[in-house]
Amino acid sequence: WLRGASQVVQVVADPTITVVKGEKMRTVDVLSSEGGVGVGVLIDDHGRIKAVATDHEIEKIVDVAGVDRIIEVGGKVLMPGLVDAHTHPIFAGDRVHEFAMKLAGATYMEVQQAGGGIHFTTQKTREASEEALYASFVDIAHTMLRAGTTLLEAKSGYGLDTETELKMLRVLNRANDALPIEISPTYCGGHAVPKGVTADEQTNCIVDEQIPRLASEMAAGRVRAENIDVFCEKGVFEIEASRRILTAGQQIGLRVNFHGDELHPLGGAELAAELKAHAVSHLEEISERGTKAIAESGTVAVILPTTAYVLRLQPPPVRAMLEAGVAVALGSDFNPNAYCMAMPMVMHLACVLCRMSLEEALIAATINAAAALGRGATHGALTPGRVGDVLVVDAPRWEHLIYRFGCHERLITAVIKGGCVV
Ligand code: NIG
Ligand code: FE
Repeated sequence: WLRGASQVVQVVADPTITVVKGEKMRTVDVLSSEGGVGVGVLIDDHGRIKAVATDHEIEKIVDVAGVDRIIEVGGKVLMPGLVDAHTHPIFAGDRVHEFAMKLAGATYMEVQQAGGGIHFTTQKTREASEEALYASFVDIAHTMLRAGTTLLEAKSGYGLDTETELKMLRVLNRANDALPIEISPTYCGGHAVPKGVTADEQTNCIVDEQIPRLASEMAAGRVRAENIDVFCEKGVFEIEASRRILTAGQQIGLRVNFHGDELHPLGGAELAAELKAHAVSHLEEISERGTKAIAESGTVAVILPTTAYVLRLQPPPVRAMLEAGVAVALGSDFNPNAYCMAMPMVMHLACVLCRMSLEEALIAATINAAAALGRGATHGALTPGRVGDVLVVDAPRWEHLIYRFGCHERLITAVIKGGCVV
């Protein structure tokens, strides 16, 4: 029982209602303490939220002597654990030298075409042992947890060959089982076209070799993946290749969740709608048609403000998406290009660069991000029946988590995952 809080931020927006009816997103509901009576959250033995109410009301429904643990929150704020809807957290090495090149004017694709970017990281990741990748991810997971992330989407995609892609997924699966952070794993074998082969050849390899092998590994219980991703981009995998890869993934039971319309307006959003994708990410270059299409299909738009920031791109037209009734989610895009693990910073950038309101940013980093991962009914909000993922925030109001940028280590004083303090 977390008791004595000044605010419990519930987040009640239902992303499917938002999309289907084209209604504006509902703002978050805040339960506040009054007249010295605190508010709190009661979590059951299965790690599910049992009640969100004033301390007096909770006392009436529960035998205090039977409560395993009471945490006195002392006037702090309780918020839902944050959900990061897009990350690439398994890799070896870094690319700080490329950051310097980009600051000096090189574009993302120029660096990649010169053999850097994803190719550089792929080389390092292929060379790294599974153990080394795991050790590196343990550190990343703890950093993310400290920044309030309790659930994240995480991709493979720095192998490009079958064995390394499977190695990356196994690291994610092991971490999900061993660490107090929940992971929705994504197969992203179509992240780049390796040097020396054409996009067509690589598409054939993904569809005819990698995906069937992934299916047999999954059937044997040796690996788990939930989503299929591809970098749908001019000069990488274009629309037809992306459609083939995503459809093949869908046929083995994966949810479609991919990179689209980042650098060029190729029609990634339209493809997402056609395939009834759960999510499509980036969308800096989304068209008006694409916006309408994903509003209708209910595909969640995953916005990644760190990418636009670090590559100095035009931010995606988030206001137009929200007005069209698109469910918008946020992700850190953590990867060697955009080295950010902190969702509070991402929400801040979303507000300033993409003109989202504080409530919209919070919804996007909680319930809508959970919806992008097929967990919109169980995660991302503090309401009875959902998973007890809670942040304790030392601030007078919840908005300070976004307002005070770069301060989340000081603000988030405890993280609770499934009812356990981690
Ligand atoms: O989402 N655009 C493609 N993929 C990543 C970047 C990966 C990398 O540069 O290593 C992204 O920004
Ligand atoms: Fe990405």
